[in-house]
Amino acid sequence: MDLRQLRYFIAVAQERNFTRAAERLHIAQPPLSRQIQQIEEELGTHLLVRSSRPIRLTDAGRLFYEEALQVLGRVEQMKEATRRVGHSERQLLTIGFVASLLYGGLPLLVRRLRQRRPDLDIRLVEIMSGGQNEELKAGRIDLGFGRIRSDDDAIERLVLREERLVVALPTDHPLAGDPGPLPLTALAGEHLVVYPSRPRPSFADQVLSLLRDHGVRPLSVYEVSELQIALGLVAAETGVCVIPGSAGSMRQELRYRLIDDPHATSPIILSYRRSDETSPVALLRQLLLQMYAEPHPWLANSYTLLEGGADP
Ligand code: BEZ
Repeated sequence: MDLRQLRYFIAVAQERNFTRAAERLHIAQPPLSRQIQQIEEELGTHLLVRSSRPIRLTDAGRLFYEEALQVLGRVEQMKEATRRVGHSERQLLTIGFVASLLYGGLPLLVRRLRQRRPDLDIRLVEIMSGGQNEELKAGRIDLGFGRIRSDDDAIERLVLREERLVVALPTDHPLAGDPGPLPLTALAGEHLVVYPSRPRPSFADQVLSLLRDHGVRPLSVYEVSELQIALGLVAAETGVCVIPGSAGSMRQELRYRLIDDPHATSPIILSYRRSDETSPVALLRQLLLQMYAEPHPWLANSYTLLEGGADP
């Protein structure tokens, strides 16, 4: 099946008449009928009720029509975006990131990068840490900001800082009364919500292995796809959740307690292709050092690992 056939089907579905559709498409009616028949043969189902006047769509035909409109719309978007990049002088820079970094320094860093490099066409795409290396190697992203250390000869990584972990608790939870740091062992016997469930290894594994290292066994572990869902479930008193400190500003109705262990941290890691000559990593390093020297609330309870020095 090809895009031309989708266009033909859309014309028939909209005109409800083969003659008018053929005129609109500037083709003869027999080839148009043949193409529609070919689609139906490929799908093994009827899309049109030809005996009615005007022609009607079957249920499958209606579904196919809606989907065909979406596919062609998407193709138009793709062509337009490609043309725009091709015709502009701007270099496309695609940044993959994990959602929790939106509560840390990512928005400010991107704003400052836009100011310093207006020639860059910066796009942001959410990609779990575990998927970033493949996306970098395939050239679908140019930089990845994630939380999982992984070794790959083609990828350089720079650990920017380590964030202390906090436990998100429902307000009425017995551990929520005391605002002070919470020992990890207090999580023994708790219902634990972790995220993301895929791809593995993920932040969920970091949390689970941290608990295992300290011999802490939760009563149950519930894996969910993302941070917002995990915190929503904590609000619904499904369990408690360990999150990076900066994400603790997300839901005001929860209580957040710092884990009383300076080694209970999650890194923020910048990854990029080793061979990428055009990567603005040197500038990012400069912008980050500047940001880390400023008093931002999301920097509380974290250790900055990024150092000045030679450009990569
Ligand atoms: C940060 O929170 O430190 C950070 C997050 C994403 C990109 C750069 C820095």
